[in-house]
Amino acid sequence: MRALAAFGVLVAASTSLATVPPVAAQEAPMLAATPPMGWNSWNHYGCEIDEELIRRTADAMVASGLRDAGYTFVNLDDCWHGERDSQGFIQPDPKRFPSGMRALGDYLHERGLKFGIYSDAGATTCAGRPGSQGHEFQDAAQYARWGVDYIKYDWCATGTGPAQRNPREAYGTMARAIATTGRPMILAICEWGDNEPWLWAKEYGQLWRTTGDITNCWNCELGHGSWSSLGVLPILDKQRPLRAYAGPGHWNDPDMMEVGNLPTLAENRSHFAMWAMLAAPLIMGTDVVGMTDPITDILANPRIVAIDQDPLGIPGFLWRGTPETGIWAKPLAQDRWAIAVLNRSDTAREIAIDWANGELNDAMTGRDPKFGERNYAVVDAWTGKQAGSTDSTLSVRVAPRDTAVYLLTPR
Ligand code: GLA
Repeated sequence: MRALAAFGVLVAASTSLATVPPVAAQEAPMLAATPPMGWNSWNHYGCEIDEELIRRTADAMVASGLRDAGYTFVNLDDCWHGERDSQGFIQPDPKRFPSGMRALGDYLHERGLKFGIYSDAGATTCAGRPGSQGHEFQDAAQYARWGVDYIKYDWCATGTGPAQRNPREAYGTMARAIATTGRPMILAICEWGDNEPWLWAKEYGQLWRTTGDITNCWNCELGHGSWSSLGVLPILDKQRPLRAYAGPGHWNDPDMMEVGNLPTLAENRSHFAMWAMLAAPLIMGTDVVGMTDPITDILANPRIVAIDQDPLGIPGFLWRGTPETGIWAKPLAQDRWAIAVLNRSDTAREIAIDWANGELNDAMTGRDPKFGERNYAVVDAWTGKQAGSTDSTLSVRVAPRDTAVYLLTPR
């Protein structure tokens, strides 16, 4: 048998397909039982990053309570890079990161934070810095030496048409490179949803972007030639068919948040509430050092964070919708439910939820609160105040572009 097995062709020829053992289904290591939470430099700072900014941001995350609210990753995005050294090992930009990456990683770890970094599966990153193609094992080894905990891995300069790099090969190579280091590092797959990553990416990483880049507007699409960036509502709407693919350990990523970067508090609240309803990674993308109290209060709201971080990891779904409003539902552990009432429009809306006469049945999971038989206490998730029970109709006035959120607990 041994001798035969060495000759794959012979074995294949003499074994019918039905008897070939299936390749074990692989899953990336369990490093994100709930969606990752943290901060990333890109949305607010773009390429203007250095070690001072990262350290100040980390300090502000600790001082403002955001770390303790769950935001532990501090992720450098594009443009931290310098050159490769004579042996091919990537080095940070010596002007922007003169103390080096190991020192930065230590700084973060000493404060109970985790260290994230960014690279790209092509020859260059999206901003033209050195990419990891052909250097995957060296880069993963270098990141592990620096104490990195999270790698966002982008998709620029990977070729076009038939010459484009195969995404499973590219992300699989980086996943193997990470595994080889022996250091647990999250792999955040960032190919913008181009190759339906929800169908395959959980074999390699813990989260995958589902769309092109977010931008800080409510309902816009901004063209940039070959691609466009999307506001909050267009991204939200694209998530609806994808809920079946996410769960503990592997998450749809509708992109880093613009909370704090949107013009009104209502929009910032809605964006945050809906990312929580989606069980999305909660990666802040704003200026943490200059953050105003109302924005901190949104991001640190313990009840909304808990909706996102619920251990079941079931993304919410649109229960009832009109073009102007959407009532979303998310099943939570212990038979609880989260309900979000989103006002997409520019006019205040009065919405009544007559629980007992409204069937709420999650066909995907089979979960049904059975409002007719069971009574639930209703709490306003923003304020923590009681809002009656499911015995009576809930009437809510939702301001333009705002979102009311309720937690339902069985009595
Ligand atoms: C791509 C990614 C963004 C960001 C930039 C950096 O556009 O999708 O999230 O990382 O590259 O250049």
